[in-house]
Amino acid sequence: MIIVIILLAQGLVVGMGWWSGSRDVLTEVVDQYSRRVEASAQDTASGVALAIAKLDTETIEPGTEGGIRVQAMLDDLKLPGHSIVSIVSNDGRELYHMGDASSGPSAYTATVPLAKHNAYLRVNAPAEQLISARDAAASEMNLRIWLGGAVIILLTGIVALALISMHERRLVRANRVLGQQVQRKDSDLIAAREGMILGLAKLADYRDTDTGQHLDRICEYSCLLAKAASRKYPEISDHFIRSIRLAASLHDIGKVGIPDAILLKPGALLPHERELIEKHTIMGAQTLTSIRDRFGEDELLDLGIDIALCHHERWDGTGYPNRLRGNEIPFAARIVAIADVYDALTSARVYKPALSHTRAIEIMREGRATQFDPVLLDVFMSIAEEVDTVRRTLQPLDLPRAAKLVAA
Ligand SMILES: [Fe+2]
Ligand SMILES: [Fe+2]
Repeated sequence: MIIVIILLAQGLVVGMGWWSGSRDVLTEVVDQYSRRVEASAQDTASGVALAIAKLDTETIEPGTEGGIRVQAMLDDLKLPGHSIVSIVSNDGRELYHMGDASSGPSAYTATVPLAKHNAYLRVNAPAEQLISARDAAASEMNLRIWLGGAVIILLTGIVALALISMHERRLVRANRVLGQQVQRKDSDLIAAREGMILGLAKLADYRDTDTGQHLDRICEYSCLLAKAASRKYPEISDHFIRSIRLAASLHDIGKVGIPDAILLKPGALLPHERELIEKHTIMGAQTLTSIRDRFGEDELLDLGIDIALCHHERWDGTGYPNRLRGNEIPFAARIVAIADVYDALTSARVYKPALSHTRAIEIMREGRATQFDPVLLDVFMSIAEEVDTVRRTLQPLDLPRAAKLVAA
């Protein structure tokens, strides 16, 4: 489109140049041709007069010996264009006439006296000669102008095309580099945000576990369960699976607000202590909500809020803090609830030893459709061996600690 506009503009400029310049040029050409035709007539007249003088004859009257020689000389004469040569006596008789009688009116007349013979020689250059010369010059000039214009348009079009395509290539390259830089910045930002979220979650987790690996396991179990559940629920995307792996780490972030005396109490909790510890769900959700309010909309934080608030809700509606039931409980929270209980059962705490994988599975099976989403629990049971493998990989430090705790 840009090239077409450039070519049209060039055509307009060339056309205007031709229109304004052609008249002046044409006038100049006509003047030149006029002068040339005039000079040609004058030369012819002088040449013929000289030739007659050289005949060295007394008279040039037709019929005399001199007249015959003049006639023969005129017959041999090659006249330029349609010129007419005539010899007229001083008393007005036309003695000789050579040339095309049908020629139009004269544009120029050159006259040379033949004093010796009381006559004069006249050469007429017809206007038609000038007109045809002028037309030929004009059409040649027009052809040159249009050819020159076409060459200019073609050359500048090619140059414009080359410049535009070079510019476009540079633009594409710059866009690609810019896109890569933005992508890199985005990745850096995401990595920094995820690192901060995980760091924050681990800070809370260190309150009641001594390794921080509880979070790593919960994240892995949740991810495994979400991946396995995606075979049953096609709406679970890879993005959700990646997100829940990180968001699961936020489930107990509210525990930072629970006093150590209650959080780490070895024995059974009193009712008001239980009430306080259950508040970690609300405190976690509030903390994440205040972060989200500063960040603006954030999918990961939204998921974290659901998980922090609802990971202790039960399928039968007897959980806390809101006694949600069945599908009222956010899907991500139902996944993390299973992962969290499994890890709690198979991990040692200050108030209990770790249970074996088999025992934990038995206990959890009893919670089907009461504590846990039955479909998700079935999926969990179907990948129990895989979960156990991950647990063994991520729980190497818990066993000696559990043994120590049991011995104590
Ligand atoms: Fe919790
Ligand atoms: Fe937990």
